[in-house]
Amino acid sequence: MCGIVGYIGHRDAYPVIINGLKRLEYRGYDSAGIALYDGTQIQLAKTKGKVVDLQERASKEITKKGTLGIGHTRWATHGVPNDVNSHPHYSNSGDLVIIHNGIIENYASVKKELINRGYTFKSDTDTEVLVNLIEEIKKEEGVKLGKAVQLALNEVVGAYAIAVFDKNKPDEIVVAKLGSPLAIGVGDNEFFVASDASPFIEFTNNAIYLEDEEMAIIRRGRDVKVRKIGNDKEVKPFIQELQLNIEQIEKGGYDHFMLKEIYEQPSVIKDTYRGRLLADKGIIKLGGLEEYIPKFVNADRIIIVACGTSWHAGLVAEYIFEDLARIPVEVEYASEFRYRNPIITEKDVVIAISQSGETADTLAAIKLAKQKGAFVYGICNVVGSTISRETHSGTYTHAGPEIGVASTKAFTTQITVLTMIALKLAKVKGTISKTDYMMYLRELEMIPAHVEAALKSNDDIEEIAKVFKDATNFLYLGRGYNFPVALEGALKLKEISYIHAEGYPAAEMKHGPIALIDEHMPVVVIAINSDHYGKVVSNIEEIKARKGKIIAVVTEGDTAVKELADYCMEVPKTPETLTPLVTTIPLQLLSYHIAVMLNKNVDQPRNLAKSVTVE
Ligand code: M6R
Repeated sequence: MCGIVGYIGHRDAYPVIINGLKRLEYRGYDSAGIALYDGTQIQLAKTKGKVVDLQERASKEITKKGTLGIGHTRWATHGVPNDVNSHPHYSNSGDLVIIHNGIIENYASVKKELINRGYTFKSDTDTEVLVNLIEEIKKEEGVKLGKAVQLALNEVVGAYAIAVFDKNKPDEIVVAKLGSPLAIGVGDNEFFVASDASPFIEFTNNAIYLEDEEMAIIRRGRDVKVRKIGNDKEVKPFIQELQLNIEQIEKGGYDHFMLKEIYEQPSVIKDTYRGRLLADKGIIKLGGLEEYIPKFVNADRIIIVACGTSWHAGLVAEYIFEDLARIPVEVEYASEFRYRNPIITEKDVVIAISQSGETADTLAAIKLAKQKGAFVYGICNVVGSTISRETHSGTYTHAGPEIGVASTKAFTTQITVLTMIALKLAKVKGTISKTDYMMYLRELEMIPAHVEAALKSNDDIEEIAKVFKDATNFLYLGRGYNFPVALEGALKLKEISYIHAEGYPAAEMKHGPIALIDEHMPVVVIAINSDHYGKVVSNIEEIKARKGKIIAVVTEGDTAVKELADYCMEVPKTPETLTPLVTTIPLQLLSYHIAVMLNKNVDQPRNLAKSVTVE
């Protein structure tokens, strides 16, 4: 939940690290810091706040010189966000300096031991404990920094991606990983370290992704030596060529990443099915799936584990899988699944959905399912992420980097992948007619055009946002395939505008939430043409009778709901199974505009982080 960046080479490290931290702010943004070795000493600046605040402080406090440095953007775990708790942290001697993404769970006992040995601590962080443990071991054992880091990490319990250097040996950075991501960019006589590849993509396309329980000693102008933390076994580093480019991680003229990502949906949905869906030929071919189709087809049930928006995509998938492929599906919050001693057998298939591929709860659920013998399939966006490597097989969504903390294109591309899987299984199992199968393939190919059309309502939706921006509560209602979309619409509004919102199945309203409805309550109702249309119209009548304000998502050409609703947002017609891919678009835009009008930080909402790597 923090971002780390490091550089060692021939350039000024300061701009590399600052720009890198800005790209990683999606991972945490309550404080930031940098440490540079200027040729004689360490220059360190850190502050509560964002990277721009750090820049201001660094201009006043440090020389910004040096070709070796590390930087950090934080999402607090131990210790409130303040200047002192910000990273980097010095060891007591001032020789070592460290940045850390993760949690050291046994820090309290280690700290006690270090205090007994005379160490003092300035911050409340677990990280300051770790750097002093490294220092103590280095001194006691008379070993080099790399060895001291290795020995220290063998004494701690928890998760980490760390980078540390010693001012007396300014030609190397030592890094290590367990449970938090860490990439090493390999340039021409220069090396980069980062939580993902975005900080170094304009300098090199070559990266080494450390595996869990690996550490590396990065030597200036020389090489990267990788070894296992648990023993001294050397590992030959695999240098991967990245497909990322700089345009993908910039705003490209949009005011916010979230808006850019909403507008990217027509093209990224196409990227998701490109080469995998050949509608004319009636083919769906997913590389990771083919070999494992028998596992799915013969499974007793599919268990989907995920969090947040990815969990909502899982709920949509439950409807699609059961409806088309007739396989029983259970959808679980990953965080609950792993703690309730679930019944899992070898006959279960577990699908883990995660944009980042780093979510700690989802990862823990995967590990549990694997232990119990289930086959685990991953649906991730970030290539090479921990979840994509921990699962037996899987499919990437290919949505490109999602930087806005509020997930948008990840949701629609996840549903696209899940729909393709369901259709493929339905065909193999014979639970779908050939005509329906071909129809769905053609309709799925048309989704990008439908999303494009739905985006055309942006200006009208902005006007609706003006009317409701000061509401303090919202209800979101949907039925069937669009119940999870109601949940997702409510989540989007909550997380970026901080307005309280709840999603419900429309029919559930009369069992409680209806008590909330009065003339101040906006109710967003997904009322598209579907089997439930008549029932949803009745729900709208019930809301109207209690003076609630209706904002309806309707199918183009609708008349009945338009007469009843206060405001309507139109989406093109598509088979009900595929409607979540279009009905979610106006809800994303509505929450975006409300948040902008309320002057909220749309891309970096308070208290949140893009990838939640703590439990
Ligand atoms: O990276 P993941 O898909 O595993 O992330 C799961 C949730 O943390 C994520 O969807 C979160 O709910 C988003 N902020 C929602 O917009």
